Amino acid sequence: MANDDLFKKIISHSKEYGYVFPSSEIYDGLGAVYDYGPYGSELKRNIEQYWWKSMVQMHENIVGIDAAIFMHPNTWKASGHVDAFNDPLIDNKQSKKRYRADVLIENHVEKIRAKITKEVQKAKKRFGDDFDEEQFLSTNPRVIANQEKIGTIEGRFKKALEEEDLDELKQVIVDCEIADPESGSKEWTDVRQFNLMFSTQLGSVADKSSTVYLRPETAQGIFVNFLNVLNTSRQKVPFGIAQVGKAFRNEIVARQFIFRTREFTQMEMQFFVRPGTEMEWYEHWKSMRMKWHRSLGFTESELRFHEHLKPAHYANAAVDIEFEFPFGVKEIEGIHSRTDFDLTQHQELSGKKLQYYDPELEKSYVPYVVETSIGLDRTFLAVLCNSYKEEVVDEAKNTSRVVLKLPAVLAPVKVAVLPLVKKDGLPEKALEIFNDLKADVTCQYDEKDAIGRRYRRQDAIGTPFAITIDHQTLEDDMVTIRNRDTMEQERIKATEVKEIALGKLDWKRMMSV
Ligand code: GAP
Repeated sequence: MANDDLFKKIISHSKEYGYVFPSSEIYDGLGAVYDYGPYGSELKRNIEQYWWKSMVQMHENIVGIDAAIFMHPNTWKASGHVDAFNDPLIDNKQSKKRYRADVLIENHVEKIRAKITKEVQKAKKRFGDDFDEEQFLSTNPRVIANQEKIGTIEGRFKKALEEEDLDELKQVIVDCEIADPESGSKEWTDVRQFNLMFSTQLGSVADKSSTVYLRPETAQGIFVNFLNVLNTSRQKVPFGIAQVGKAFRNEIVARQFIFRTREFTQMEMQFFVRPGTEMEWYEHWKSMRMKWHRSLGFTESELRFHEHLKPAHYANAAVDIEFEFPFGVKEIEGIHSRTDFDLTQHQELSGKKLQYYDPELEKSYVPYVVETSIGLDRTFLAVLCNSYKEEVVDEAKNTSRVVLKLPAVLAPVKVAVLPLVKKDGLPEKALEIFNDLKADVTCQYDEKDAIGRRYRRQDAIGTPFAITIDHQTLEDDMVTIRNRDTMEQERIKATEVKEIALGKLDWKRMMSV
């Protein structure tokens, strides 16, 4: 299936089965804003809890906070967001479509990189076991030419970004003959900077002094609370502060469903370290976070690190963890070495000392920070894309199914309780089992339609187990348990269901994969 088709199917599946709806859909929706439905909100909460457990509960030296979305406007002056939180935008004159100039260039480089990958794959097939990839990459003329092309483009691109040379940015687009992806036109306007923060007015009098911003990242709520947390949590450097919360960005190019939205949730952790040790911690968190992504069931080939050519204004090193979505390999999480930038800036503007007295070094300093910052919505989308499968059930009968093979810990419903028929005391027995289970595992009772259709519905929702109560159950208290992934069925005691389900819901085991 073409990846475009696959992605369209995932989007329509998530609407049909109550995962994600366009925001205020009865008014035709609002651009790049989405709501989570009954199953979506459960999956989202489960991912959030899994992150919180692995980052906060499992680390004695990480504590959580929940800061307000509105913050003093000086926060955003100090953090640099008022002056530097910009995207370079470019319009296509013919199609009137607006794009991020940096994204156009990055996508162009990606296409050249894909050509190299294709050459390698072709050669691998041709030479079989004798293939030496390193030698091929360093000698094949087409590969070398493409590598040189990438080097030149990236060199110019990096310099233009560093020097904020918007004319040069446009020139790179023109020289690379980058066309509007929709219309194919190469007629571009100049590149302009556009600030991504939403602003609003606090109180009843609208003047400049009452302007507040919807936070574009949750991190600043952590920085401004650094002293409060230090003084109340008895933590010592190195330690971290974690937070999950909404962030808002007036994204101009907002596409790809919930991948890039204007309102989204971040799960961030700022790790405060001794100056000079930040690169060690940066490497530490890179590997910890990659391991976490693997524990979600993503394979090694679906994930990769992408080092930034030009880190954001606050960082001296930055890497993305990227996932292979159906629409391309894209960022899910950023890991940033933020130096002492934020605390120093807040210290200067607020006049409050934001320092730590290190008893071992017997001196005070502004700690350095390594940040892990992951989008909850993007992780949700990655989990959804990874678990969506279309399978043939019976070739002879031409039957197929759509199944969400979600990790059991994350699945919105863990056990479906299904009486075989709606009579003969089976619903009563099923409800008895259901009521016994529901305090321990999220389960769902369903008696409507034929059993086969109910199984399909649970597959589409992603329920790992379905148990069926039949006439025999009334006699021997045994039920049929059906495994979502294998579709295998087994007779077990009704009293064993809870144990089996809870065994699969062991998040500690999931984490240790
Ligand atoms: N505090 C650092 C920070 O905000 P970022 O790379 O701009 O860094 C971190 O964002 C993560 O937040 C991204 O990796 C992504 O998962 C998520 N994110 C950023 N912008 C988003 C958007 N418009 N829609 C959905 N998720 C977004």
